[in-house]
Amino acid sequence: VIIPYAHQSINEADAGAVLKVLKCDHITQGAVIVNFEKALSLYCGARHAVVFSSGTAALHASYYASGLGQHDNFITSPNTFAATANAGLLLGSRPIFADIESKTGNIDVTKVEANINKNTKLLVPVHYAGHPVDLKEIFTLSKKYGLKVIEDACHALGSKYEGENIGNCRYSDMTVFSFHPAKAITTGEGGAVLTNDALLRNKLLLFRNHGIAKTEFINKPHGEWYYEMQLLGYNYRLTDIQASLGLSQLKRLKKFVLARRRIAGSYNLAFCDNSFFDTPVENDYAYSAYHLYVIRLKDRYIGKKCRIFSDLRKNGLGVQVHYIPVHMHPYYRKLGYKEAICPIAENFYKGAISIPMYASLKDDEVRFVIRTIKSVMKKWCK
Ligand SMILES: Cc1ncc(COP(=O)(O)O)c(C=O)c1O
Repeated sequence: VIIPYAHQSINEADAGAVLKVLKCDHITQGAVIVNFEKALSLYCGARHAVVFSSGTAALHASYYASGLGQHDNFITSPNTFAATANAGLLLGSRPIFADIESKTGNIDVTKVEANINKNTKLLVPVHYAGHPVDLKEIFTLSKKYGLKVIEDACHALGSKYEGENIGNCRYSDMTVFSFHPAKAITTGEGGAVLTNDALLRNKLLLFRNHGIAKTEFINKPHGEWYYEMQLLGYNYRLTDIQASLGLSQLKRLKKFVLARRRIAGSYNLAFCDNSFFDTPVENDYAYSAYHLYVIRLKDRYIGKKCRIFSDLRKNGLGVQVHYIPVHMHPYYRKLGYKEAICPIAENFYKGAISIPMYASLKDDEVRFVIRTIKSVMKKWCK
């Protein structure tokens, strides 16, 4: 039996909510979408939420709404899923990777300023593994240079910064979430953008639906049937079927996060005096939703990672690695990004292993994970 590194938690209430919508007249873009958006904005404490067909679509839309375009660049972390950077490439802009700090795996805020140039439009901090970036620091920089800020919070629904929910956009223009099954709550595939700005909300709604407006027209309407396309958008809509799952899951979010934090506590305790790897830490300002629990092999054991990884898998743990730094992928190499531009991220990658972390992980499974990791480490790290 393999214990995966992540897994969704679906119960009868979730399934019942989906079934109910399946029997309705509207299975996409009906009332449930709007209810899910209201519930999300209420939970996060932002004025507006716009849901999308994926976190990637939500990122793409938010970058578009921020005005990012050709010849612009944006600064983000290399220690992220490729989509964070790709969404900017899709708009003809260029990501600049600022190196990370090894303590949290987040972008090193002190390294951002040196990367800002006259074409920089946007800062995209990624709350890696659910641990928030120091948003006040990012906010200060953005004001100094007149930049927009979009939080890639795909890992951080349920996380808090200085006691306030990630997603309230107090220090950013927009915040992006993903509802992929590995994430805090799921809609199968799905994502959302939170914002306090009504103009941004309007752009997001247009971009989600081919750029088509159904109210507030540029031309004079021809009749009641009238709609018009005002910008080039996509079909990035979420269905009501998915939104019903999201709405039901959102009610369980607090419990999910508490369960994740309890598991993190068990891991922290079990591994606190080990000499093989470091475990995640939380800064004073942070409350992490623990999307991931990433252990990091000490430098002297990095050379053993391949063997440790495959032995963990052989022994029933579906471990993973987050992340291969984005600039190291062949596609980015072809674009001219060099290896060694972010040495700390590259070293972080060499030692990182994500171990099982999800709300429905049972106590005996947690004990099995701990036992297995301890014995595999002892075997390879003599
Ligand atoms: C940091 C980060 N950004 C963006 C995404 C993209 O989200 P999605 O898979 O919902 O498109 C993910 C999801 O894997 C992610 O982890």
